[in-house]
Amino acid sequence: VLTSIDGVLVHDRTPYPPAIPTIHHLRRNSIPFLLLTNGGGTAEQDRAISLSGSFSLRLSETNIIQSHTPFRLIAAQGKLPPSYDPYVPGGRELKNSVLVVGGPVFGVCRGVAEQYGFKNVVTPEDIMVEWAPPKGVERSSVWPYRPVTPKMRNTSKPLPRLPSGEVMPIDAILVFNDPRDWGMNIQILLDLIIPGLGGVDAAGNPPPALIFSNPDLLFASAHPTPRLGQGAFRAALEGTYRRVVEATRPDLDPQMKYACMGKPFQETYEYTEYQLMKQLVGKETIGADGQLKRVYMVGDNPLSDIQGANMFKSPGGVEWVSVLVESGVYKPGQSFPPGGEPKVVVKDVWNGVKWALEREGWKA
Ligand code: G3P
Ligand code: MG
Repeated sequence: VLTSIDGVLVHDRTPYPPAIPTIHHLRRNSIPFLLLTNGGGTAEQDRAISLSGSFSLRLSETNIIQSHTPFRLIAAQGKLPPSYDPYVPGGRELKNSVLVVGGPVFGVCRGVAEQYGFKNVVTPEDIMVEWAPPKGVERSSVWPYRPVTPKMRNTSKPLPRLPSGEVMPIDAILVFNDPRDWGMNIQILLDLIIPGLGGVDAAGNPPPALIFSNPDLLFASAHPTPRLGQGAFRAALEGTYRRVVEATRPDLDPQMKYACMGKPFQETYEYTEYQLMKQLVGKETIGADGQLKRVYMVGDNPLSDIQGANMFKSPGGVEWVSVLVESGVYKPGQSFPPGGEPKVVVKDVWNGVKWALEREGWKA
């Protein structure tokens, strides 16, 4: 069983009433489960510790896959998959630095990226500080509307430099989580992906590849109605990119080039299925011949959870069954997007798991 976190297990940080008994039921019956979320912004083990407290049950980093978890593969390969890099056919070796964007607290996602194995990790705050006077709460010339506070200074690092002393080019921009200051991040990202806009000579290097980790336009949180997510930030960046390129570089294609992973995309579901196989091989719970036969994806967002499960082409020949709950983004009566029609619609996570277990002939 796989479940989304927001809108299925928790409303903001508060577990829905059926979430705790459901998770405990799965654990007590050794039914393998993973939390597959488009959320992130912190290390998997820290998120697991925090959820262990919420659910009064020990979860480890292997029980959770966040939007940016599959970035681990890119760090391990030290190279961008060709499909992620419009500027370097065949995929770009990550020899220089990567810019890590987003997250609730300055610098946290830098730590996560370094833990994944990325070298020379830069953050937008590092760039802000690089262009600010050397001390005090000052304005950075990069984005004058955001003060460079002591907190920003303390969590930033000097930009990595080449032996020549020039600032090391950025090979890839990895959006780990929603940036908290869209204006500052849009300015810094456009400075990097529109040649010449930032006033820094890229010394002939191609613009960095731009990779998002979560397409969610909206997500369920504490507010009575869904809030803007990383997909909304991308739309704002894309719109600004178009207008600035049309105004300053009419020789360039005004369509921003980027890649995106996260639910509903194949890469994230493939990564998840691989983790499931790795965790389950040899366990009797996965069927007599030791094969993973069926996965139930219990989600609240037809555009990410349901579409992803429905459209996933499983390399392992696994059947993915989509189960939509009414407790999150989706509300009864709403229509389904193309490919986003679930196998079943249920009230909440317990009813979703109960339906799945009964369908498997398991006495819930
Ligand atoms: O996109 C926002 C994120 O919080 C959604 O999380 O767990 O519903 O995939 P989840
Ligand atoms: Mg959700």
